Amino acid sequence: MHEDIEEILLPSEIILAKVKELGKLITAHYRDKNLLLLGTLKGAVPFIADLARAIDLPLEIDYMAISSYGNSTESSGVVRILKDLEGPVQQKNVLIVEDIVDSGQTLHYLMDVLRQRRPMSLRVCTLLDKGRERVKPVELDYTGFQIPDRFVVGYGLDYAQRYRNLPYIGILKPSVYEDQTARPETLHKSPAEDR
Ligand code: IMP
Ligand code: MG
Repeated sequence: MHEDIEEILLPSEIILAKVKELGKLITAHYRDKNLLLLGTLKGAVPFIADLARAIDLPLEIDYMAISSYGNSTESSGVVRILKDLEGPVQQKNVLIVEDIVDSGQTLHYLMDVLRQRRPMSLRVCTLLDKGRERVKPVELDYTGFQIPDRFVVGYGLDYAQRYRNLPYIGILKPSVYEDQTARPETLHKSPAEDR
């Protein structure tokens, strides 16, 4: 286990088993429909890579990058598109593939943007749902795991762009983001500032 990890919440075998289950549900729902998997950069990359291979249907994959600003306690509501889809979605059934839903703000904004583009259907698959009270309401169609309100990293999830390559999902030791004197400049911020 990495020295900055307090506890492994989800070992990689557990994650992969769940991803296969989700893949089966998605395969059943989208049979005879075209499907566009829309991954959110960068956190959902490992998840979408495994999920796509667990779906036994022809499908397309594209990505959007969304950035949200604000500190951990106050939600600014400012969200920005850093990278957009390659083409229109009017003729497509879009399934958003998210790594984690916390306040719901990022996903709420993304869904607003996509609804305006009138896809044939729009659904959401998130690997993790933090049981936190939502700032914005969102409906989740597929959820991998409900997790406690702790800051987690690994399997795509980062803190200050680190830990995305851990094969498991673990709780980050609070000392990593609280002990600011022992850390380089890039780590001097609270987890929620780092989307
Ligand atoms: P929301 O807009 O509050 O739902 O935040 C969603 C975004 O916050 C995610 O896409 C992540 O980038 C980030 N985030 C929230 N909680 C965590 C966490 O525990 N670990 C890593 N990133 C997180
Ligand atoms: Mg992030």
